[in-house]
Formats: sequence, C-alpha cells, structure tokens
Amino acid sequence: MVHHQFRFSLLVFILVTVNAANDLNTDKEALVSFANLVPHQRALNWDDDNPICSYWIGVMCDSGGTRVIALHLPAIGLLGSIPPNTLGKLDYLQLLSLRYNLLSGDVPLDVSTLASLKYVFLQNNNFSGKLPVFLSYHIRILDLSFNSFTGEISPMINYLFQLRTLDLSNNNLTGEIPDLNNLQRLKYFNLSYNSLRGFIPTSLQKFSNSSFLGNLGLCGSPLPKCPPSPPLSPPPSLATSTKTPHTRSKKKLSTIVIITIVISGSAILLLVAIIFLLIYLRSKSKEDCQGLSKGKKAVVDPGSSGINNSSSGPHGAEMNKLTFFEGSSFSFNLEDLLRASAEILGKGSYGTTYKAVLEDGMTAVVVKRLREVVVGKKDFEQQMEMLGRLHRHPNVVPLRAYYYSKDEKLLVYDYLPLGNLTSILHGMNKESTVI
Ligand SMILES: *[C@@H]1O[C@H](CO)[C@@H](O)[C@H](O)[C@H]1NC(C)=O
Ligand SMILES: *[C@@H]1O[C@H](CO)[C@@H](O)[C@H](O)[C@H]1NC(C)=O
Repeated sequence: MVHHQFRFSLLVFILVTVNAANDLNTDKEALVSFANLVPHQRALNWDDDNPICSYWIGVMCDSGGTRVIALHLPAIGLLGSIPPNTLGKLDYLQLLSLRYNLLSGDVPLDVSTLASLKYVFLQNNNFSGKLPVFLSYHIRILDLSFNSFTGEISPMINYLFQLRTLDLSNNNLTGEIPDLNNLQRLKYFNLSYNSLRGFIPTSLQKFSNSSFLGNLGLCGSPLPKCPPSPPLSPPPSLATSTKTPHTRSKKKLSTIVIITIVISGSAILLLVAIIFLLIYLRSKSKEDCQGLSKGKKAVVDPGSSGINNSSSGPHGAEMNKLTFFEGSSFSFNLEDLLRASAEILGKGSYGTTYKAVLEDGMTAVVVKRLREVVVGKKDFEQQMEMLGRLHRHPNVVPLRAYYYSKDEKLLVYDYLPLGNLTSILHGMNKESTVI
C-alpha cells in the first residue's frame, strides 16, 4: 500500500481549456458584437477590412496570429454593462484591461470563468453585484478596485495560486476576510475602503495597515487591537474590595481584567475545540454514509480487490477514495489509476500534469497533482463542487473526479486528444510576454 501511495503521489490534476471550434473569426465576431452593443466615446477601428492582429486598436494576438490573447481598452468611455457572449467568448484571452471606463452591472459569468486569464484590470468603473469569482488558475493580477462590488470575498480566491496582485479596495465588500494562506506569491494586496469586519487572518498580517484602511469593523494586527470582549459581571469579591485603598482596588481591577481575558480566552478555545469536534464528527458521518447515498456523487472504493483499506479508520478511508462527479462515464478506481502508465504533459509552478493511460489501453485521463497546497478538506471539496458544475461550460474540460488527502490533492480531467492540448499545457507554463 505504501508503494501504491507513493506512486499515487506522483499523480496530479489540472484545469485545461480547449475549444476546438473557436478560432480567430470567433474572436473577431465576439469583439465586433461587444463594440456594437457597448457605447464608447473613442472610436474603435475594428473593421473587417483591417487585419485584426496588426491593426485593431487594443487587440493583441499570439505570435502566430491565430487567436486574440490581450485586450487593452483603458479609458475609452465604454458605457453600460458587458453583454454575455461577447468578451466571454475570447477563450484564449490572457489579459483583459477595461480600467477607467464607465462600465456597470455584473461581470458576466462567461468572462469571470475565462480559463486562460492572467491579468485582469477592471478598476475604476462602476461594476456592481456580488464580487465575481475569477476561476482561472493562471491569474497573477486581479484589480477590481474602485467599483461598487458587494457581498463577501469568496474563499475561493485562495485557489488562485499564481496571484501576485490583488486589489479589491474601494468597493462595498462586507463580511470577514477569508484566510488566504495558499497565496504565497502575493506581493500587493489591498482591501482598503470596504465594509469588512473581524480579525485579519494570520496569512495576511504581513501586509501593512495601508492594505486594510477604512474598514471600520476590522481589527487586530496590523491594525489596532480588537476591543476587549465585554466585561463579565463582577464577581462578589469585587464588592468587598471597594473598601480597600484606591491603589489596591486598581491592582485588583487589573487582576480582574486579566482573569476576564483568561476566562474569555479559554471560552473561545473551548468553542473552537467544539467546532472542530463537530466538523470532524460531521465529516466522519458523511464519509460513513457516502458510499450508500444516492446523491450526486459516487464514491469508488479501491477495496474491490479485497484489500479493505477503508476499514482501517478514518485516515485509511480518506486516503483511498476517488470522488467522481455525476455524468462521468469512467469506471475505474484508485488502484486502476495507480497502475496506469503516466506521461508528463507539463510542469507548472503549482504542480505537474500527467496523461495517464489505464491498463485497458483505452481510457486516458489528464491528472494534475497540486503541489504545496495547504487547504482543508471542506474548502477543497467546495471548490471541486464548483469546478464540477462548470461541466457544460464550452471552454472548460470537465473535471471528472478528484482525490483529497492531507498530503495529496489530485484532479482528474478528460483527456482530449487534440493537437493543441499539449501546446496549451506548455503555453501555461511559460511566462506571458504580454502585459
Ligand atoms: C454606481 O452603481 C451604483 C449601483 O448600481 C449606483 O447606485 C451608483 O449611483 C453608480 N455610481 C455612479 C457614479 O454612476
Ligand atoms: C490601498 O488603497 C488605499 C486607497 O485607495 C490607499 O490609500 C493605500 O495606500 C493602498 N495601500 C497600498 C498598500 O497600496
């Protein structure tokens, strides 16, 4: 089993975009309908007669001139909302800059789920609605500052492993700041001037207080200390102490403050311990009945070969389950995957991608192993559910299954034997030349 775990630990999974049907013409149509539907003060020379890659204002293509990869339209007086089925069709887009315009409304889902995006500049508009969740794992810069976004910051931002710059300042965001402990490359971070509250998570305390200005409900390092919890009703001994001299009563008071802090501190600790226990019990009972549930997920247990690993306690059970999504036609289990022959498709800074061919010689999948990802099981499963729901998105290769353990996180995708899969995988690992 150790051997298998070791081999398994060599596998990992990835989100890959492929859209064979799209080409430069679809990009062109998407841009033209955007220009037609969105009023703008400065004229765009986006005419059919002019070559799109070399002539169109703000448009940049890849070196082969086959797809649009960057769109720079800063301060040209774009007015109104971004219609769906326009920019969201630019599925090779790596850079989207629409800063300093008059855009409003929601960011459409097809834009926030563009899977190649690396650089997003939407600052200084008047976008509103819930803060969009950008899902491209390649995102390095996300600037949504100076808009009217509302709602909470999704903990899913913690999965944008490549993020260097995150600016959400000057919006109307509420709720608490999620822990962003996975974002180890984050260099610039700004949440100033929102309506956030609560503690600043440890992972973000390395940023200065100017990253958190103007949020009245935020406290704790690097901002001033949180106000002490409301004092407990004084113990009876305090009444007798009023007879003591002033200095002594002061001393006694500070003792009481300390006691109060200690008591409320232990109460919080106890509460945390109870919450952890509850979460543990819940996930345990979930695991216990998962195999029986007729829910959306089928859990394949590799115990079919007779080795019943899942009986070796919660750890063993967790270690050996491959969770498939509904609609998956695959019928392999973890053991099969372990025995598969694997070929490296690409190495990225957050993991390695493999093509795995099962022993039947017919079934091929793409496996991505996430490296150095510190994430709780619940968060991970939530993220997987979200990715699983993108099945019908034409730009996203469906996620079919995932595997979670403390030390290993794997994603299984369809393998699409298109010529450009490899090039995309390789492309993903190159630094972008555009910005
Ligand atoms: C921005 O949008 C919000 C909400 O849609 C609206 O209330 C506000 O007036 C807009 N601000 C500007 C400057 O257009
Ligand atoms: C964050 O934004 C606010 C307001 O726009 C600004 O005052 C502050 O200096 C910024 N913080 C950093 C770290 O740049």
